[in-house]
Amino acid sequence: MRKLAAGNWKMNGLAADLAEIEAIAAGAPEGCEVLICPPATLLARAAAFGLAVGGQDCHAKGAGAHTGDLSAAMLADAGAEYVIVGHSERRADHGETSEEVAAKALAAQGAGLTAIVCVGETEAERDAGRTLDVVGAQIAASVAGLDPARLVVAYEPVWAIGTGRTPTLEEIAEVHGFLRARVDVPLLYGGSVKPGNAAEIFAVPDVNGALVGGASLKSADFLAIAKALAAA
Ligand code: PGA
Repeated sequence: MRKLAAGNWKMNGLAADLAEIEAIAAGAPEGCEVLICPPATLLARAAAFGLAVGGQDCHAKGAGAHTGDLSAAMLADAGAEYVIVGHSERRADHGETSEEVAAKALAAQGAGLTAIVCVGETEAERDAGRTLDVVGAQIAASVAGLDPARLVVAYEPVWAIGTGRTPTLEEIAEVHGFLRARVDVPLLYGGSVKPGNAAEIFAVPDVNGALVGGASLKSADFLAIAKALAAA
């Protein structure tokens, strides 16, 4: 399975921060794909460094009266090869359902992009023993009708995002094995991946890479994670 180190800059990054992306492009190791998803305002300038870049969301429609939204074709036109859809922050902040996520991913693929579909349980759902039910329902509805050749799935426990907390390696293995039985595409783990825990996470079966938030903002940290993946 191909390996992908993906950085999600979320709502961070001004022109002055392009130097970090330039450094990531210059230092990206052989042996895995390296991707940065900057804010859309930086997409075209980031793409110019020769690194793979992606959007963080797209609209399900190709064009029209949707103020503030971006179509997948616009992202592709700006140089994107990927787009994240269904990130838990989008699902929570914008009420996105798995059906909407599937429609966005379909639009992404239609524009020639690879969709990175995110799934993951909340802390309350994990505590209630419902992790596999929740992730199973999300994956079934979010990837319906998609082309596996242009699909990546990211497992991101909501409670591990930006918190410094991570599941145990056994818990990651359980969910990734569960997902592997359902989709034969690269599976990323996301949620507080850092240089210090990357190697052990990449050694977990069915983990083919990471979706990295905070630690992707600094080139040294993100390159350390990418190098751990390349060596895994
Ligand atoms: P984090 O974010 O690495 O800052 O926890 C991960 C994500 O939301 O993709």
